[in-house]
Amino acid sequence: MLFESFKLGAITLQNRVAMAPMTRSRATNNIPNDLMAEYYGQRSGAGLIITEGTAPSPNALGYPRIPGAFSDEQTRGWKKSAEAAHQGGAKIFMQLMHTGRVGHPYNLPEGAEVVGTTTTPVQGEMYTDEAGPQSYPAARLMSEADIQEAVQSYVTSAKNAIEAGFDGVELHGANGYLIEQFLNPNVNSLDNDYNGSHEARSKFALEVAQAVINAIGTERTGIRLSPYGAFNDTGAFEGIEEAYEYLAKELGKLNVAYIHIVDHSAMGAPEVPRSIKEKIRDSFGSTIIISGGYDKERAEQDLADGLGHLVAFGRPFIANPDLVHRMKEGAELQDPNQDTFYTPGEEGYTDYPTLKEAEATK
Ligand SMILES: Cc1cc2nc3c(=O)[nH]c(=O)nc-3n(C[C@H](O)[C@H](O)[C@H](O)COP(=O)(O)O)c2cc1C
Repeated sequence: MLFESFKLGAITLQNRVAMAPMTRSRATNNIPNDLMAEYYGQRSGAGLIITEGTAPSPNALGYPRIPGAFSDEQTRGWKKSAEAAHQGGAKIFMQLMHTGRVGHPYNLPEGAEVVGTTTTPVQGEMYTDEAGPQSYPAARLMSEADIQEAVQSYVTSAKNAIEAGFDGVELHGANGYLIEQFLNPNVNSLDNDYNGSHEARSKFALEVAQAVINAIGTERTGIRLSPYGAFNDTGAFEGIEEAYEYLAKELGKLNVAYIHIVDHSAMGAPEVPRSIKEKIRDSFGSTIIISGGYDKERAEQDLADGLGHLVAFGRPFIANPDLVHRMKEGAELQDPNQDTFYTPGEEGYTDYPTLKEAEATK
């Protein structure tokens, strides 16, 4: 099934393999460039490419060298990546990631600030180009005006993504970034309509989804969620199953294009019970992307079992630009080098050989 085409709303994917969103920090000055277009083009054998997390506003640029989608220059820069993906037959969604409290002033442009749903800093340190690893700062608690401004920033950048030729956007509602900062009571200490119950904590996610849908359409708006994820101080909480069931149901009512479920247990994170994946799938009632630690065999198995409709592969796509071809051939996969995940330049980015290139140099 993995290599069969799939209809995602109005578009047809050439197979059910998605490239998982991965921050690669090659966007010098936060502007998408030709090297990134080359990278996405190399991976255009995927059915659906989901780009690295992309900032909808200056406040959202918490990490060094991540791209944005709020300026004209960024929109222009992205056009080449959309073209490169399409040339190889892939469809491409831009992941919109607002880092919220997971940021550092050293990484932000002038005038931007770290904002979030709690003033408790994230534990540990984050990398900055300016001064290496730094403790996380306390975020400024978002006001109602900040919240509405953030919603609007997703709308503007979603429109920019469409203008740049993308097929849609994925709202990053996972891994402890802004949308999950609202969803998760462990990191939400707001004292307003956006906290107090799971309905209230879902309000921001649903408002963003609705506003983006109004701007670009249901079929172009997907969302990523990470129930039971523990990244950036999130973690499980009382009532988590009901909370995600409610959210999935409401997203279903909005007709969002897909829910993309994160499972980082293969990376040492807590187990994500199969039951929550099934509950999300059943409450949502439409396309589900499953992800996390997949190889071809497990992917085929979970598709056959009906756990999801598409399977996203992350790290295998870093080191195997022609991943779909390699899986079809049953060829061995190359291992990615973690040291170059986030370093600038082409090393460990666009220089992994295809199967054909690797065989030619043997
Ligand atoms: C280098 C790297 C960067 C990542 N950046 C993002 C990101 O920007 N947005 C996101 O939702 N997930 C991100 N992830 C998580 C992946 O999308 C995926 O869920 C994870 O790698 C597990 O899938 P895998 O086992 O196939 O690699 C990142 C993972 C890696 C390895």
